[in-house]
Amino acid sequence: MSTVFVNIALSLDGYMAPESMTMENWDQPDDKHWAAKWGALTSWMFNQRYFREKLQLGAGGESGPVNDMVRYTFERTGAYIMGKRMFEGGERGWPEEAPFHTPVYVLTHEQRAPWVRPGGTTFYFVNEGPARALELARQAAGSRDIRISGGADVIQQYLNLGVIDELEINLVPVLFGGGRRLFENLREPLPQFRIDRVIDSPVATHVRYVR
Ligand SMILES: NC(=O)c1ccc[n+]([C@@H]2O[C@H](COP(=O)([O-])OP(=O)(O)OC[C@H]3O[C@@H](n4cnc5c(N)ncnc54)[C@H](OP(=O)(O)O)[C@@H]3O)[C@@H](O)[C@H]2O)c1
Repeated sequence: MSTVFVNIALSLDGYMAPESMTMENWDQPDDKHWAAKWGALTSWMFNQRYFREKLQLGAGGESGPVNDMVRYTFERTGAYIMGKRMFEGGERGWPEEAPFHTPVYVLTHEQRAPWVRPGGTTFYFVNEGPARALELARQAAGSRDIRISGGADVIQQYLNLGVIDELEINLVPVLFGGGRRLFENLREPLPQFRIDRVIDSPVATHVRYVR
């Protein structure tokens, strides 16, 4: 059966996205310095060779263990699940050939027809909740894995369902002071994890937790 996993970047004080990083503020990057904070959170990823190739960002980049982790994360994934707010940011920011090349299930209250992108990515908009989205993702993924991409709201729902097998956190030494906190709204019984692997680098600590 597919493994259900998360792989996200987290600020040292526990945020997945800085305060003010909303669609309304998209054109105001200086509002509470949200764009600079987001840049600090994600710069390690933009320095990885595989990620640069995948998003057509040009040559160069690191090719060490962090790059291998990024490659494995993409290659293992047969279906993605994400929230509407993450999708809205990506809809504006991803290249026309979105970097998934699989079905992507977007949890939303909005009713919308599937959005087919060149290169094999189709976004399906799911109104029937997280369990149904996971059922659809399992059917689509076959023997590959399912990535719960984010944001925080969606990851919390899957943590509460108890279905996340692996939690990979790329912990970046930047403080946000506010924003979308990963670990909140959690209910008992809380899932328990143990450390499976740590990759250390000067700019981030990459920790994989497993059940
Ligand atoms: N640090 C990282 O690695 C990382 C990774 C991913 C995303 N992010 C960031 O995280 C932020 C978004 O996270 P977020 O927590 O604010 O939002 P989110 O989880 O992306 O989306 C939440 C929205 O999805 C819809 N939704 C969620 N669950 C639903 C359900 N069960 N049924 C129906 N609709 C549902 C609702 O939107 P509607 O009611 O409008 O449909 C809800 O407001 C973005 O800034 C993104 O860039 C960071």
